Amino acid sequence: MDHSLRRSTALKNDQPEIFYTIDNLRKFLVTARDQGKTIGFVPTMGNLHQGHLDLVQRASDLSDIVIVSIFVNPMQFGVHEDFDTYPRTLNSDCHVLTDYECAAVFAPTVREIYPKGLNTEIDVPSLSTILCGHHRPGHFKGVATVVCKLLNIIQPDIVVFGNKDYQQLQIIKAMVEDLLLPVQVIGTDTKREPNGLAMSSRNAYLLESEKQLASILYSALTKIAKAVQGDTQIKTTLRRQKQLLINAGFVLDYLEIRDAKDLSKTYVDSDTAVVLVAAKLGAARLIDNVIVHLSK
Ligand code: PAJ
Repeated sequence: MDHSLRRSTALKNDQPEIFYTIDNLRKFLVTARDQGKTIGFVPTMGNLHQGHLDLVQRASDLSDIVIVSIFVNPMQFGVHEDFDTYPRTLNSDCHVLTDYECAAVFAPTVREIYPKGLNTEIDVPSLSTILCGHHRPGHFKGVATVVCKLLNIIQPDIVVFGNKDYQQLQIIKAMVEDLLLPVQVIGTDTKREPNGLAMSSRNAYLLESEKQLASILYSALTKIAKAVQGDTQIKTTLRRQKQLLINAGFVLDYLEIRDAKDLSKTYVDSDTAVVLVAAKLGAARLIDNVIVHLSK
């Protein structure tokens, strides 16, 4: 199916319909499908910013009906992480969505998604135990499991994710391929603040001075990407940028160059590499990445 020819049919300035239960959402979706509409899905944890809204725009460019889920998924948070304090802003999220062609918001309770607690889990171990997975054990199992559940509930034609969470996107692509899920996974460019800082709900944890400082994360990535692209001084640039970040007050989880497809350390034979970083600054853990197309 050529999704690029389809336009969303929900009108701007319409408040999206909010569904709290799987049953009610499914009834709505059955009607939409009976009318031959294609369904685009954007999974989120809410506290929507322009990065999320770009995904909604992309979904509405590619499908007739857009569903946004807003669900702070307990399964992907570690015991000492920010599940309790994660910003929950459903009313204002629904309000900003009126500027987009979003037909419905799915905002289930934890009980609706995990009625019997946790039993079956989805894992992609080759990708989920490295990089962020190494520093947040169990995190990607939580992500893959909830995304699989949401895909089963909504059964969309396309699902849109941000390249910002690059490892997450690769895990979802692998899961969809391995489990033969009938959905097309679309990645969308990272939306940044004017100073280069990647937009994130967790930027709210940063002080204003830290937000300014955080922009050097992106400049470090672009300098390393340039070295990788030109195949010059890669090790020196990597070492220098790591030191610069540490001196500025970042606590680095990792700053690495990987193969963009399988996230392995050997990227030299690949046509695309990715420079990825995860670092704590003040109360926030920030992640970002830059993709490098290698000239052969
Ligand atoms: P959340 O952090 O809310 O992000 C939802 C989607 O928005 C993800 O696909 C993420 O990559 C994308 N996104 C976040 N910041 C972005 C930016 N600056 N530019 C472009 N896209 C951006 O990621 C999650 O939620 C959860 O893990 C989820 C997939 C919903 C599963 O619970």
